Amino acid sequence: MPVSELISAQRIQRRVGELGSLITADYAGVGKLVVIGVLKGAFMFTADLVRSLQVPCSIEFIRATSYGNEMQSSGEVTITHQPDIAGQEVLLVEDLIDTGLTVNTIVEEFWKLGPASLKVCALLDKPSARKYPAEADYFGFEIPDTFVVGYGIDHAERFRELPFIGTVD
Ligand code: IMP
Ligand code: MG
Repeated sequence: MPVSELISAQRIQRRVGELGSLITADYAGVGKLVVIGVLKGAFMFTADLVRSLQVPCSIEFIRATSYGNEMQSSGEVTITHQPDIAGQEVLLVEDLIDTGLTVNTIVEEFWKLGPASLKVCALLDKPSARKYPAEADYFGFEIPDTFVVGYGIDHAERFRELPFIGTVD
């Protein structure tokens, strides 16, 4: 399955640096930020993003699955564990907002846990694919409604290791 490059590793790294600066400025003076990456897709983005933040943080991961091995969402989201975020400043880190179902579900569940604040940082945004209300407070790149892989994002568990984002044919 050939992969064509859509966003180079260099562009990703540059943008992650910019996001880190933006987020650092917004949380200046905050004692501690809880960064919550959504596995597996956001593992690489989360690891790079926290390295470009100059805010003390703790790092959590949750797992949310909606896709299985299909290229289309199953329409149901399961969240594995809910970290203790009561009274905390929380930044949810996602790989990609597509229909919006995953982020919408997680954000709704997380607000019930009483965080002091909750924001979303997504590497990629496909606004034309949106079916559920979901917004990223920070996002890396807007992309068209095409299936992408790489930089943590898979197709049937393949291509996560690529340092760039590409499309599969
Ligand atoms: P949503 O719930 O429809 O917004 O989908 C979000 C999740 O679906 C993302 O976190 C990805 O794991 C997965 N996903 C959506 N679009 C793609 C894609 O183009 N490639 C791989 N995974 C995708
Ligand atoms: Mg995901």
